Amino acid sequence: MTKPSFYLTTPIYYVNSVPHLGTAYTTVAADALARYKRMTGHDVFFLTGLDEHGQKVAQAAADAGLSPQEWCDRIAPRFSEAWEMLRITNDDFIRTTEERHKHGVQAFWTELHDRGHLYQGHYEGWYCVPDETFWTAEQLVDGKCPQCAREVEFVREDNWFFKLSEFAEPLLAFYEANPGFIQPETRRNEVVSFVRGGLKDLSISRTTFTWGVPLPFAENHVTYVWIDALLNYITAVGYGDPDKAAEFERRWPAQYHFVGKDIIRFHCVIWPAMLMAAGVPLPETVFAHGFLLTKGEKMSKSKGNVMAPADLVERFGVDAYRYHFLRDVQFGTDGSISMESMVQRYNGDLANDWGNLVSRLFNMTEKYLGGVTPACPEEAEATEADAVMRAVAGALPARYDKRMAGLDYAGALEAAWDLVKLANRYIENEAPWNLAKDEALVPRLAAVLYNALESVRIAALFCAPVMPVTSAEVWRRLGLGDIHDTDDLVTRATWGGLPAGARVEKGEPLFPRIYEEV
Ligand code: MSP
Repeated sequence: MTKPSFYLTTPIYYVNSVPHLGTAYTTVAADALARYKRMTGHDVFFLTGLDEHGQKVAQAAADAGLSPQEWCDRIAPRFSEAWEMLRITNDDFIRTTEERHKHGVQAFWTELHDRGHLYQGHYEGWYCVPDETFWTAEQLVDGKCPQCAREVEFVREDNWFFKLSEFAEPLLAFYEANPGFIQPETRRNEVVSFVRGGLKDLSISRTTFTWGVPLPFAENHVTYVWIDALLNYITAVGYGDPDKAAEFERRWPAQYHFVGKDIIRFHCVIWPAMLMAAGVPLPETVFAHGFLLTKGEKMSKSKGNVMAPADLVERFGVDAYRYHFLRDVQFGTDGSISMESMVQRYNGDLANDWGNLVSRLFNMTEKYLGGVTPACPEEAEATEADAVMRAVAGALPARYDKRMAGLDYAGALEAAWDLVKLANRYIENEAPWNLAKDEALVPRLAAVLYNALESVRIAALFCAPVMPVTSAEVWRRLGLGDIHDTDDLVTRATWGGLPAGARVEKGEPLFPRIYEEV
């Protein structure tokens, strides 16, 4: 049976600077979903990449004394290295300076030109280079960019325009018919009221600078960077390339675009209108997450309060890094992050609850059972406590899935944690160290350790999308295969899957406690 296709994307990041916690946040969240979907039998295509054109990148290159392409080629590896460090499993990495992309962009604008959606005009107004956004004089706040409060520059040029204004009604009808298209709900309301206010035609080309994809039908015009960037979602899966028609057919439309809340108008208004104009189907969902805040402020390069992912990974390890952002920040709302809360979460959930459970249990298996997994006890012999544990483990796949379907990572992790905490309590209550004192109780000792080990095996499966390294290590120590080979999660998570006679290895603590002050 062919697996259902699941296509999800992150924004493509500007290469004016290196990756930071904000850009890593979207990427980690998307990765956790991609991993979960692979584990549940989907044929996943997870796309991320780089937005390399535009004035902002050209300026960064000029400041460094390099050509824009040299600059992009220098920064691009910084992103791929960061994603490798964070164990991101993207299936493709698109750069907008690649031929395949430029070709697709030109095919798209030729199509829109042929369909009569474009016209030539004159633009006069303001432009925010850091946001790469056009603003009218009325939109400015104290003469500054209404989005980021930075300086704007006056632009006067001949442009090509896209008749965006004609799409207000079709867009409203689309939002109405597809209530899940924009999520969460607050963002949807925001977009709907914006579109109800009417749309202006959009300038899609620039003539006052050259770092972009040339418009195929107009000399000296390069594509406006946002319009170029949005197209990455279809050029990466073969749009405009006749040899890739089957791939495009299979992958598009995407199931999810993950974006930050600052770029929803591009993704929920301009992008669907462009696709409608070209007769291309629309993506299923644009999900807008919130900002990471430090001390109440958005973390951003211009505020000088950005942290590098590598510093935190060095200190906490990659799994704890991923866990923290997905567990402590509710996906879809703003969330404050701090060293204090990271250390607290690390010591509480990871070192105490999860790491300790694994260490104690594997040590006891070594000590009392010679490091060999016992047989699965008969269900008929289960005590009430055993039955509760089986029931909680049995309910986990559905609970977890429901949360993941709503992109509630924190809730999904909480569901997994119910099993982890229960297993800890179970060990406390059943006290294997007492059972070990009496020869007659050895069968019960084996049953208790089996139940706890089985809970750990199952919990590791549900930790794997967020904490891939330690989950794989838990399975390895349990003498099981590669946890990441799982594509039938529900079957794998069935109680009794831990085979008897496997060799359990003790190993180092998964999450050594952090004692230093922060
Ligand atoms: N290049 C455009 C996207 C084009 S997609 C067709 C862009 N790039 S960006 O590098 O500036 O930002 C990319 C994403 O990072 C945005 O979704 C933005 O919301 C996110 N973040 C940047 N700083 C952030 C935080 N402090 N917190 C969370 N995410 C934020 O925009």
